[in-house]
Amino acid sequence: MNKHFGELHVLQDINLEVAHGEVLVVIGPSGSGKSTLCRAINRLETVDSGTIRIDGVDLPAEGRALAQLRSDVGMVFQSFNLFAHKTVLQNVTLGPIKVRGLKVADANEEAMALLDRVGVANQADKLPAQLSGGQQQRVAIARALAMHPKVMLFDEPTSALDPEMITEVLDVMVQLAKEGMTMVVVTHEMGFARKAADRVVFMADGQIVEEATPEEFFTNPRSERAQDFLSKILTH
Ligand SMILES: Nc1ncnc2c1ncn2[C@@H]1O[C@H](COP(=O)(O)OP(=O)(O)OP(=O)(O)O)[C@@H](O)[C@H]1O
Ligand SMILES: [Mg+2]
Repeated sequence: MNKHFGELHVLQDINLEVAHGEVLVVIGPSGSGKSTLCRAINRLETVDSGTIRIDGVDLPAEGRALAQLRSDVGMVFQSFNLFAHKTVLQNVTLGPIKVRGLKVADANEEAMALLDRVGVANQADKLPAQLSGGQQQRVAIARALAMHPKVMLFDEPTSALDPEMITEVLDVMVQLAKEGMTMVVVTHEMGFARKAADRVVFMADGQIVEEATPEEFFTNPRSERAQDFLSKILTH
């Protein structure tokens, strides 16, 4: 696909396929188009050309069909985007009740199981602001999972967190990967990439410059752009 922001060709002939159960890490310098790519996959951003296909179905441009297919894609952003005036439990049950049509009792039961899975079941009745950043991000993951997505997109899910909270979020993501979830993860967390990723895609200036296994990419990047980028984040 291709996309412009005015003069800026922000996504240039991006051709990407993610297999069922695959974990893809997207890495690259600031402004390279990683977030735009994630947002385009979910149609939060329009594209100028190209198609997005999920599980064999073209993502419609708009309308009810889009809302339906969009729920196949769970998204977790850098900022938690939880509803501030709803409890943790309500944050997780809202989508299932409204979009999936679950009864409240069923939605609650499923939400509690998901909150338990991400380790914050004991926070269910609190408001988001009463939780740590790491706990909020785990709630955001539970909320996305509650929609039974076919693929999960993560856009720098740990970059706004204090170091001690990063691990608890990454642990949940590693677990999810092990369970076979299809995941696209924008992150610079090398530990996560090495532990969980099947493939790394390196983006620069709107293009996919390099694709490799995590091991290959981190130990022996081929392109000069990637070498330069890695030397910066490694010495950071
Ligand atoms: N809504 C917009 N209108 C105009 N330009 C935009 C818009 N959103 C992003 N851009 C520009 O597109 C380019 C890519 O932005 P994007 O947010 O996708 O980068 P990124 O790789 O996610 O960077 P970061 O690592 O800082 O999050 C940047 O130059 C940015 O300024
Ligand atoms: Mg970004």
